[in-house]
Amino acid sequence: ARVPLPTNEPVYSYAPGTVEREKLKEAIKEIKSQQIEIPLIIGGEEIKTGNTREIVEPHNKSSVLGVYHVAGEKEIKMAIEAAMEASKKWREYDWVDRAAIFLKAAELLSGKYRYLINAATMLSLSKNIFQAEIDSACELTDFLRFNLYYMQKIYEEQPLYSPRGTWNIMQYRPLEGFVFAVPPFNFVSISGNLPTAPAMMGNVVLWKPASSSVYAPYIFMKVLQEAGLPDGVINFIPSKGSVVGDIVFSSEYFAGIHFTGSVDTFNKMWKMMAENLPKYKAYPRIVGETGGKDYIFVHKSANTKKLITAIIRGAYEYQGQKCSAVSRVYLPKSMWNDIKDELFSEIDKIKMGSPEDFTNFMNAVIDEEAYKKIVNYIEYARSASDAEIIKGGGYDDSKGWFVEPTIIYTENPHFKTMEEEIFGPVVTIYPYEDDKYVETLHLCDQTSPYGLTGAIFSEDRDATRVALDILEGSAGNFYINDKPTGAVVGQQPFGGARASGTNDKAGSHLNLLRWITPRAIKENF
Ligand code: SER
Repeated sequence: ARVPLPTNEPVYSYAPGTVEREKLKEAIKEIKSQQIEIPLIIGGEEIKTGNTREIVEPHNKSSVLGVYHVAGEKEIKMAIEAAMEASKKWREYDWVDRAAIFLKAAELLSGKYRYLINAATMLSLSKNIFQAEIDSACELTDFLRFNLYYMQKIYEEQPLYSPRGTWNIMQYRPLEGFVFAVPPFNFVSISGNLPTAPAMMGNVVLWKPASSSVYAPYIFMKVLQEAGLPDGVINFIPSKGSVVGDIVFSSEYFAGIHFTGSVDTFNKMWKMMAENLPKYKAYPRIVGETGGKDYIFVHKSANTKKLITAIIRGAYEYQGQKCSAVSRVYLPKSMWNDIKDELFSEIDKIKMGSPEDFTNFMNAVIDEEAYKKIVNYIEYARSASDAEIIKGGGYDDSKGWFVEPTIIYTENPHFKTMEEEIFGPVVTIYPYEDDKYVETLHLCDQTSPYGLTGAIFSEDRDATRVALDILEGSAGNFYINDKPTGAVVGQQPFGGARASGTNDKAGSHLNLLRWITPRAIKENF
């Protein structure tokens, strides 16, 4: 094999006294002082439209880190042209040459640019250093390295049999057109993976970063350029969703979408593609991950120490803003009283504030819209007669968008916060009758339309097997005795089914296969 066998990028500790910590602090200073002006990058050219948006620190709203330019209709059309022009050359690159570019990008990202991208992630997304490190430095690097390895397997393995006198070949070609990459704000790794996975397979891409996450993705775009990505292969176009959507989906060159975001947006896009279908050369590839209503299900045999850690980390890391975050917990009634005090005292230990103080476990939520949405759910629970806020429930946006780690308790398994995605540090506990394990598993399976992540805590193998069976469709990523967040590239390919998306597993050969169109060739001798 030519692509090196990948291993996961090591996670740095940034412990006091380490060189890494000092370098990171320097990078934080640089990000805070430079007042960046982020242009679009189209066909390799930096373009400033004059229509700018401020980038603020969510934990310190008055601190502006810089601005980014927003693409309008003209620039989006330019990006399509630039992509199609670049495609002529890029699709003919040998895959080994493409691999070299992305391997170099992985090297630069995890080396020279590690501190800068982590600092930008911490400040602009309000992530603590650990959360930034596992995202921008490690997961994005892993996506590049592992995808290249899977790509090699696809190209090198010939699955076909050739009887004597014939030669059968499966040839994998890039799609005819461009791919539209539309990531969420919460992971820089996802933002970077959505354009690079199709690009690796020989496609050209329009990349619209999330409007609340432009800074770190821009640094990655610069890394790709420095690594030698030819102009126009990936075009970086921060823009308004409705403006870019109209143009992209009505383009005759549109070939596919690589999306992570909300169900509503994905559904809208799907309808737009359906309406425009006659314009396209081929049926578009539709790959998307949407929301989740992720759960921990507890059997009475569970190890409660592990369980408490899983609830705290699963529900509150990155303020619950992971699509995989724990937001409902089913546990036996008899266990609840035993673990309640310990769970509360662990929550009391949580420190919240700016990511610049490395001891803060939680930071702010991303923006005002997210803050208001979470607050509405909290207030809904506060005024409900069939639920109670038993921990947290406070919030304060005087300095930044802060929401306390919160627990809602309900004996109504269909209470609103048991069913709807909140995307914040709010978890709902539902205690079930100890003898209703199987019934409650069915209830858990049927309560939400999503199927992203879930976990069972059980030390009883029979109980675990029953859960695996009943909860089969309810989680594309399922964990036994672990939190349902923090999938690692190369270890747990990530993606959900049902309303959570097309389940094409980011960071796997399954995802890469969506970005090629095969041709079976038979030659007679
Ligand atoms: N991949 C992330 C996780 O597993 C969520 O997007 O937590």
